[in-house]
Formats: sequence, structure tokens, C-alpha cells
Amino acid sequence: MSDPARGDRGRRRRPHLPRFNPLHKLRATPESADVSVPVGALSIYDPIHLGVDEDGLPVAVTLIYRNLLAGGEPGSGKSSALNIIVGHGALSPDCRLWLFDGKRVELGPWREVADVFVGSNPDHAIAKLRELQTEMDIRYAMIEAAKRRKIARHDGLDVILCVIDELAYFTVTTGTKDQQEEVRNLVRDLVARGRAAGIIVVAATQRPSADIIPTSLRDLFGYRMAFRCTTDSSSDIILSQGWAGQGYSAKTIRPEAIGQAWVLAEGGFPRRMRCAYLSDVHIQTLISHAIRLRAPGRFGDDGGAASALAKL
Ligand SMILES: Nc1ncnc2c1ncn2[C@@H]1O[C@H](COP(=O)(O)OP(=O)(O)O)[C@@H](O)[C@H]1O
Ligand SMILES: [Mg+2]
Repeated sequence: MSDPARGDRGRRRRPHLPRFNPLHKLRATPESADVSVPVGALSIYDPIHLGVDEDGLPVAVTLIYRNLLAGGEPGSGKSSALNIIVGHGALSPDCRLWLFDGKRVELGPWREVADVFVGSNPDHAIAKLRELQTEMDIRYAMIEAAKRRKIARHDGLDVILCVIDELAYFTVTTGTKDQQEEVRNLVRDLVARGRAAGIIVVAATQRPSADIIPTSLRDLFGYRMAFRCTTDSSSDIILSQGWAGQGYSAKTIRPEAIGQAWVLAEGGFPRRMRCAYLSDVHIQTLISHAIRLRAPGRFGDDGGAASALAKL
């Protein structure tokens, strides 16, 4: 029997990096496909190592079909946690990075391996979020046509990891009221509908207040991380109502305990943990490695749905 993943001499061929193609057809039975991950690469379908818990046990989150919300006061370690997730995404050739960072420097280093990097410009942010929404709609059409309910690992369709540092920058601080409202609606739609289409939203906010993270939006995030907060109620806004009253409050994290957080997975109990930390040197090393892993199939900065469609 010939195995398409093997070359003439029976040696395992390096699999092609999945490319974005809006007309890509999903197979009806994804489990039957034989797709291996290149040596040295990770997959966005695998658990992402975040750090260790109070007992020194590893804490990992599986973000596929989930979203993650991180909240906490400035300097509590949110952006650093986002960097770990982006690092895993960068080393996963089945993952495309769409990064939104109003400060530009937190996620900025990764722009070399990102398909999209949005800095402080609200027009750019809206254009890219709309593009992602279009991409999501195209993917749902494909999923429906294949009589499936979600994309899967072996479909060869890249997962899009959309990471937004300081969500409030785009929804409260910059732009006009209409622009802020539009960003809010787009992010809500992506968080609400993106999961089955392989679009993961990871967002951080230093203002965990009800106007920025309304309960209805918070509840759409399967994973929540509460870094140090100044009040029990802001901790509850991230984790959900009632946890602080049961002793799970990010107010109890000492100010000097940067990188400590309560992490909550849907349906579970909050777990106190300490995030791993990537220094600038670590990040540069990972980027060099990620560039090598991604080299065969990279698209430019505008590798989204609209531009891909325009090329057809
Ligand atoms: N897990 C960690 N371990 C050790 N130091 C950390 C950790 N996370 C963050 N730091 C330090 O704290 C600083 C502030 O963290 P940052 O992630 O930027 O916070 P935030 O995004 O919440 O404002 C970082 O520049 C880094 O020096
Ligand atoms: Mg930050």
C-alpha cells in the first residue's frame, strides 16, 4: 500500500505546511487522514504549557475550540503570559498568528512570524477583525458543506490564534465611540462563533470592570486567568461571580508575586499557578526557530481571507 506521507524510498517526507485556502475542502472523516507534525514543531491542538501550580505540577491549557481571557492590574504578568501562548502558536506550523497590541512592544517581537500585526491604529484593527470575521464565515460555509460541526487537526486548515493585548485600548481608549463599539461587536462575534471554525481569541485587560468585560462576554471565554487584582469584585469579573466568596480571589495575590494567577477552566475549580516567563532572549531564540519551521509556506502580512480571495 502506498502511503502518501512517504517518499519513494519509504522515508517519511516532511509534510507540507498547511496553507490558507478559503476554498479548501474539508474531508468528511478527518480521522482517516495521515498528517504528521514536523520534528521540532508543536501543534496548536496540543496543550500549551503555562507554568506550574502550587504543588509544582505543570499547568497546561488546550486552547483549540476555546478562548482565554486574562485580567489583572498593570504589571501583574498578563502580557508575559500572552507571550507564552504566542510562543507555542509560533512554533506550531498549523497555527497562524493575528496579533493586536496597542502598545506595540509586548507582542511586537513576534511580528516576524505573525500573519497580521496590528499596533495602535483603530482603523487597522477594525479592518483586520472584519477580515477575520469573513474568514470565520467562509469556514462555517465549508464546515456546513462537509456536514461537519467543527474543523479538526487533520483537515490541513490552519488555526488562527487571535491575541489581543489590552482589549480596552481598542474598546475604550482609542478611536471614536463608533469604532470602539465596532471592535466590541467584532470581538464578541469572534469569541462567540470562532471556536469550531478554528479561530481562538486570547485577550488581556488591565481593567477587569463590568463595562469592559460584561458577564455575557466573559462567559464565552472557556479559560480565564485572574492575575493580581485590587478588589474581590474585579477578580470575580474575570473568574465569574461567587469565586472570591469561596476563597478564590486574585486580591490575595501579593503585589510582588508577578506572574501568579488563578486559572479557571470551564466547569472546574480555580487553580493557583505561577506562569513561566520568556525573557527577550528566549523570545528571539524561539522566533529564529519559528522562522525556520514556517519558512516553506509563509504568506505576507495580509494572508487573510480577503486577500486570499482576491488572488483567485
Ligand atoms: N511569570 C513571571 N515571572 C517573573 N517575572 C515576570 C513574570 N511575568 C512578568 N514578569 C515581570 O513583570 C513585568 C510586568 O509583566 P507584564 O506581563 O508586562 O504585566 P502586565 O501585562 O500585566 O502589565 C515584566 O516585564 C517582567 O519583568
Ligand atoms: Mg501588559
